[in-house]
Amino acid sequence: MKQRMTLITLLLPALLMAQQIEIVNGPYLQNMSENETTIVWTTNSDAVSWVELAPEGEDSFYAKERERFYESSHGNKAIGRLHRVTIGNLEPGTTYRYRIFSKEVLSYEGHRIMYGNIASTNVYNKQPLTFTTFDRNRERIAFKVVNDIHGKNDNLSSMLGGDIKKNSDLVIFNGDMISMLNDERQIFTGFMDRATELFASEVPVFLARGNHESRGKASSQLIDYFPTNNGQFYYAFRHGPVHFMILDGGEDKPDSDIEYSGLSLFDDYRSEVKRWIEKQAADPDFLSAPFRVVVMHIPPTGSTWHGTLDLADKYLPALNGARIDIMLCGHTHNYLYTPGGEVPGISFPVLINDDETWLDIETTQEKMTIDIMDLSGKRVTSHTIDRR
Ligand SMILES: [Fe+2]
Repeated sequence: MKQRMTLITLLLPALLMAQQIEIVNGPYLQNMSENETTIVWTTNSDAVSWVELAPEGEDSFYAKERERFYESSHGNKAIGRLHRVTIGNLEPGTTYRYRIFSKEVLSYEGHRIMYGNIASTNVYNKQPLTFTTFDRNRERIAFKVVNDIHGKNDNLSSMLGGDIKKNSDLVIFNGDMISMLNDERQIFTGFMDRATELFASEVPVFLARGNHESRGKASSQLIDYFPTNNGQFYYAFRHGPVHFMILDGGEDKPDSDIEYSGLSLFDDYRSEVKRWIEKQAADPDFLSAPFRVVVMHIPPTGSTWHGTLDLADKYLPALNGARIDIMLCGHTHNYLYTPGGEVPGISFPVLINDDETWLDIETTQEKMTIDIMDLSGKRVTSHTIDRR
């Protein structure tokens, strides 16, 4: 018995080390708006999580107790490995400092919880992470758009390796960032770990789902990692002079195709998106914005496949009447720009971005400039759109 006790005593530090909680992925910013954002991260064990918030300033994060925001579910603090803390009541156009915390839950029986260690981001010998809320009154905004990298992290680094925090207010991933979603970890190995390393802890990222992200056993969990303001992959937000409408075109082949194993219901889904677009297009907030940008992975032209035909049939009538300034697409892995009115049935310009170029976009109250950049950072071509 004594020998056994000694063994346990000897092994205890190792056991405790093995249980050390760690932040595995993130944090990254989601669902940014003028008064709210959601901060997402994962840990290697179950935990209760929170964010501490401080105003922008030169004082130490430790100067005083900071306001805490917990992840909660219907009145209870949430316990899990995926953490999503929404912070509300923020001021528009304001910079905040933040720190994330996860307190490990070692056991949970009835009302008895045994807590372990706490993992957090570093504010001791590093500057705290920051974010800036959106503001519709901002004179000018800048954003980047990347699509179809299919898990090629090095391309992501080439595209977004600059000082994104200084030169971009937000980043849009326009679909097919990975080829298949069999396991939720692929979200991180495929692109989000690199995105976090490059910018996503401090610059918000918005996902427009591609057809490849709707494939695989873990695809139904994707929305958990990319929370939006309406819980859907089609949603809208505003920053500065731009009203963004993010759309989802679903899969590209008919629902009955053998590749989908009888699981696809994208015809019904596109009808649901159509109804939402019709409501959006009549929204005075949307119509009064200086610029209206639609982001959708699959373009509504250039293919005779069912997905393209169905979304063109369902989405275009409402979009054609909505004074869209430009639609940004991907999917084909080939650059194509068509001015409004050139393609029968499409009244607005459509820009299809290649898989090895990215869009560097600046918009003032009067003009939008879209630079198409290659992997070496060279500008390939450019388009300007004047306010109507
Ligand atoms: Fe695609």
